[in-house]
Amino acid sequence: MNKGIFISFEGPDGAGKTSVLQGLLPKLAEFGMDVVTTREPGGVAIAEEIRSVILNPENTAMDDKTELLLYIAARRQHLKERILPALDAGKLLLVDRFIDSSVAYQGFGRGLNVEDIHWLNAYATDGLVPDLTLYFDIDVEEGLARIAKNRHHDVDRLDMETVDMHERVRQGYLSQLEQHPERMVKVDASQELEAVIVDAFAIITERFFKK
Ligand code: TYD
Repeated sequence: MNKGIFISFEGPDGAGKTSVLQGLLPKLAEFGMDVVTTREPGGVAIAEEIRSVILNPENTAMDDKTELLLYIAARRQHLKERILPALDAGKLLLVDRFIDSSVAYQGFGRGLNVEDIHWLNAYATDGLVPDLTLYFDIDVEEGLARIAKNRHHDVDRLDMETVDMHERVRQGYLSQLEQHPERMVKVDASQELEAVIVDAFAIITERFFKK
């Protein structure tokens, strides 16, 4: 039985979820729980190595199933080394991307079988699902425009995908949202960053810290 709280942050590229996650940290401090933040793919050394293989723009020959299995392998290692220990220690754990990214990107985006992805995710996580998933929703064109404007990293392999692929990814998220209304909550990420942070904070407070 885990004692901590597990919240995942999901959304298409450019939704701003990483900035929201950072912006939440000072606000969450008021609840007196230790907060741990981490990301996928990556978060621990072995998974970061896998991440660099996945995102390397030179790896144009990568097969879609290979890509899926690498994300899943990175997830397994991250779970064992970072997620489970943090939850066992009673931390408030904020994870930038988790199982829903596989469904949205490799399932809806790449067109791999979604049932297989659910099964592989469950295998990798021993069935662990987040207590809450914040889904940051934004129109695809708007998200891509934000990325172009704020670009502070080199173009990675996933950045090179088409608008169509990103559109399918968003549909994937919306379908997950419909299927898991108790776990997933949509946040309007088209607002100013500060407003998105306020909304996300309100959802977390309501769910876990309401007096
Ligand atoms: P990253 O630079 O971390 O993007 P972001 O800041 O948007 O999270 O790169 C992660 C990329 O990997 C992103 O495009 C989404 C993709 N991804 C998958 O396709 N499947 C997955 O299971 C995960 C975790 C990420």
